Amino acid sequence: MEQKFQGFGKLLHGGDYNPEQWLDYPEILEKDIEYMKEAHINVVSLGIFAWASLEPEEGKYEFSWLEERINTLYENGISVFLSTPSGGKPKWMSDKYPEILRVDETRHRDFYGFRHNHCYTSPVYREKVRMMNMELARRFGNHPAVLAWHISNEYGGECHCPLCQKEFQSWLKERYGTIEALNNAWYTRFWSHTYQSFEQIESPSSRGESFLHGLTLDWKRFVTERTADFAKWEIKALRDAGSDKPATINMMYDFQGLNYHKFTDIIDFVSWDNYPVWYKKGHALLAMDSGMQHDMMRSLMKQPFLLMESCPTSTNWQSVSKLKEPGLLEAASLQAVAHGSESVLYFQIRQSRGSYEKFHGAVIAHNGRRDTRVFKEVEQVGSDLEMMISLAGSITKAKIAIVCDQESRWAMEDSAGPRNKGLHYKEAVEKSYYAFRKAGFDVDFVDMETDYIEEYQVIAAPMLYMFRCGFEKKLRSFVENGGILLMTYWSGIVDETDLCYLDEVPHGLTDVFGVYSEEIDGIYDGMKNCAVPTEGNSLELEKTYTCEYLCDLVNTGSAEVLMTYGKDFYAGKPVLTCNRYGKGKAYYICADMEQAFYDEVYSRLIAQSELQPIIPGLKLPAGVEITSRENEQDVFVFVQNYLSETVNLVLPGEYELIFGEKHEEIKPLETMIFRRKK
Ligand code: GLA
Ligand code: ZN
Repeated sequence: MEQKFQGFGKLLHGGDYNPEQWLDYPEILEKDIEYMKEAHINVVSLGIFAWASLEPEEGKYEFSWLEERINTLYENGISVFLSTPSGGKPKWMSDKYPEILRVDETRHRDFYGFRHNHCYTSPVYREKVRMMNMELARRFGNHPAVLAWHISNEYGGECHCPLCQKEFQSWLKERYGTIEALNNAWYTRFWSHTYQSFEQIESPSSRGESFLHGLTLDWKRFVTERTADFAKWEIKALRDAGSDKPATINMMYDFQGLNYHKFTDIIDFVSWDNYPVWYKKGHALLAMDSGMQHDMMRSLMKQPFLLMESCPTSTNWQSVSKLKEPGLLEAASLQAVAHGSESVLYFQIRQSRGSYEKFHGAVIAHNGRRDTRVFKEVEQVGSDLEMMISLAGSITKAKIAIVCDQESRWAMEDSAGPRNKGLHYKEAVEKSYYAFRKAGFDVDFVDMETDYIEEYQVIAAPMLYMFRCGFEKKLRSFVENGGILLMTYWSGIVDETDLCYLDEVPHGLTDVFGVYSEEIDGIYDGMKNCAVPTEGNSLELEKTYTCEYLCDLVNTGSAEVLMTYGKDFYAGKPVLTCNRYGKGKAYYICADMEQAFYDEVYSRLIAQSELQPIIPGLKLPAGVEITSRENEQDVFVFVQNYLSETVNLVLPGEYELIFGEKHEEIKPLETMIFRRKK
């Protein structure tokens, strides 16, 4: 993949800043600058929700306050991510053009309020956005303070208005050509839902069609394309007005509303907003979860990314606003950098005085003091980042990838059976990810449109329900050429329109795995089965592990059986198999196994391969994270301790400590960075 973005030459520190809320308090605006400098803040995101202040009346632009802020920030060494304000529209606009308001799935139009709730199709909204964006670009698009464009804010949601319905119909026509082809793809003879023309098709609704899986899947694809098209429209306005600064959108944690892969051709770099719920499942597990999201975001474009938002203390929208204990902000912030981020940015610099986010944590709290615990911790992060300048632009180079495909997940989670009480897909991905990370490896994520999977040595494909884009062929040649492939139950079941394959599954790969699946057993909550190792199995597995939720019953051909079920009528049937194919190996995991199984199996099969972890031979307890980034000269290794006790840590001599205190141990929440010359 072509690397469009190398970073900004330094690590960025800052966050969302909303001076439009403080225009009546010049002394506060002045103080903000002073405080930002003290906290080593070098960038702020401006104007995200400022439309009403930028265009208080239709066509009347008031940009002087923004210009004044940008200039002052610049004079003080602070750069700007300039936002397009389309995330929140002014009241006058919805009053005059009610068609810009979204229609929900029950076909009711929203009232004015909240944010992010406008129709991405509406020609009026598009025109208003275009005019605003062009105006912003003309005024500030080449200003030296502006580093990049922050496009809108956390795109999401869907609109079912008549305009969007029409767009959906044309999109389908484009995709299928004829209504017969659509009927076949969606299997509409079922329940007599056959369409005669594209004009009859309506978006899914809980009051109408919601069980036609082909329709719901295509609707999700369409919503992504509509949104991406809107983002493209926004960026085009900036380019047409003469600004070619890089553009990003800020993405969200595990967001199921959009397929973010479809934005990578439109934006220049990925950024995302991370609000982990620390304390809920223990720091070690939470850090793993958060690390996984960072890796997913980095993998989208396989280049440096930005942490666009995070909270210096507690949010106000989570069920409980738990404070971060001392040191946690630093650890969580540096974790983003450890996984490839070029920044640590917050929401927000100064806490709002009123309305919905008045109790959301910020760098500067209502009391306006800089001797607060939070301010000092932010300052610490800022000075850390300044010390890490040599890391800027370096990237993570993983040898292992996990396949996570949004379209496959949409289809799988929408389908009825084999377990409507929860398929536990995300957990299945996490289990593979945690096992690789615990074994000391960096991990990338790919989807089925990825065309560089041969760069990896190991690929795990948990619950890859749908096969599309000929991905099974890519996997076959990956194994043939020496790769190690791990696939689980409930894979290769349907094609890209969610029609079941009419041959043995996993479709097109049964000879690669030497198995085919015959039935899958859904297990009630609380009931378990187990996997028992077979005598003399090639991974030398000796322990029995439990499994739950789903048990695939497979028949083996050429595959070796390494473990078998211990219970139920299928006791003795395979749970784990391995098949040699070409120069590689293909493992098939039949059941939703416990984490310990993944840890053991993955570390053993890696030990049998030539794959080397980040630091060969280094054994760290789970909860102490190791990650790396590199540039042409150096490899940087991050170690972070998310356990509550101090852990011994001695690295081989070629690793020079470049961040952290020099001692042979790592304390709770401590971060150490080492450098090895290449
Ligand atoms: C999101 C938004 C911000 C703000 C924060 C609060 O990430 O992008 O505007 O509302 O949440 O946590
Ligand atoms: Zn609409």
